[in-house]
Amino acid sequence: MTTLTAADIAVLDPDTYANGDPTTFGLPLDQYAFLHAELPVCRQEFNDPRLVPEVWILSRHQDITQAEQDTDSFSADGLPTVWAYNIVGEEVGAPGILVQDGEQHRDGRRVISGAFTPKVVETLAERFRRHARRVIDHALALREPFDFVSAVAHEMPMQALGDILGVPDTDRPRFFGWVDTFSSAFDERIAPTFDDVLRAISEIHEYSVELRDLKRSCPAGDVVTRIAESRMGDPEVRGNVTLLACGAAESTRNALSHGLHELMRQPDQMRWLRDRADDIPPQAVQEIVRIACPFTHMTRWTRREVDLHGTVIPAGKPVAMLWAAGNFDETVIPNPNRFDLSRSPNQHMSFGRGEHSCVGKHIASLEIKILLEELLQRTSEIRPAGPISYVRDNYSRSVYELPVEFIAA
Ligand code: HEM
Repeated sequence: MTTLTAADIAVLDPDTYANGDPTTFGLPLDQYAFLHAELPVCRQEFNDPRLVPEVWILSRHQDITQAEQDTDSFSADGLPTVWAYNIVGEEVGAPGILVQDGEQHRDGRRVISGAFTPKVVETLAERFRRHARRVIDHALALREPFDFVSAVAHEMPMQALGDILGVPDTDRPRFFGWVDTFSSAFDERIAPTFDDVLRAISEIHEYSVELRDLKRSCPAGDVVTRIAESRMGDPEVRGNVTLLACGAAESTRNALSHGLHELMRQPDQMRWLRDRADDIPPQAVQEIVRIACPFTHMTRWTRREVDLHGTVIPAGKPVAMLWAAGNFDETVIPNPNRFDLSRSPNQHMSFGRGEHSCVGKHIASLEIKILLEELLQRTSEIRPAGPISYVRDNYSRSVYELPVEFIAA
């Protein structure tokens, strides 16, 4: 039985995730359970210029799904998260498809998703495997404990996304440096000041247009070439390249890091996966994505007054869809606190479930599958070499450090 009260709820506080309990996936599962049972629509106020002044938090699977699907009541046209309210304003609001509604959203989404045809995904799979082998070779050559996040989990999505977007090899380190700063705006170890965050955003924006121009003169089969061939103007180009960069790199890295951490904690699950390392089944990858929940939430904005469970949310207000809580709603996910790689069905919310659901979910799942296959085939054991530590953020569930030791197979 929970002893929490409404005053204890801090599910959008960066410190909650920085100080997460590694035995509960780093998540405040007790607070989520309280919200599910007692406060399904939870209004919070923030007194921090970087955050929206007030937000209504949805935690139940069914309510989040409704907010995603009822586009007459909920609009995506506004800030996509609760952070960066006054300071970043227009900058963050560059119009990527994540913050567009209706026809405009569908047109842009078609441009981006068209880059992920089965044929393209097939060629990407071969490239991902080459990247995975190289990254694991490098880690094995260290022959001593190392940080899994920087040596493996960071490298794999960086190269994979570099291929997907068509970022030239020599530009990748600086490109992903901006992404790191942008994605960790509340952690001074990564983004010392908010000015650094702003600078990173404006540099990605500038680079996005340069990359689009490069693709106009040298087209290739990548996403930015498709964007260059479309009717998107400069603001959409900035918004969408930034969205792809930040949405795809950090998230996959965090899924890999939280996933490996949990596998090391649960030897029976590690054995189960090792027995299937030749061809990791999709449900295992989806369970990793569920417990990792790389984005805690995203926001929608009420188009009109909405009455939910007796709470009235006025028109024009931000509503946070707390995916991380939805993933642990026992009315839809049986025995949710158990990490079960064979879970099926698995109606997790980590990729969203409505019109804006993740365009890259198959690509991300493929990356995770291939990296884990190579990792488990090439090692006989993976041991923790120190405690996991988390980035201070309320949106991106980043792992700061995960010390490990690989024993070669
Ligand atoms: C484990 C990794 C990933 C996770 C957990 C994730 C999660 C999400 C979530 C939660 C959304 C918003 C859903 C909504 O608002 O309904 C989203 C949207 C999006 N994601 Fe991902 N993502 C991942 C990887 C990727 C990758 C690899 C790509 C690109 C290759 C990508 C591209 C996008 C795009 C373009 C959107 C906007 C879709 C739209 O607004 O229509 N994501 N993602």
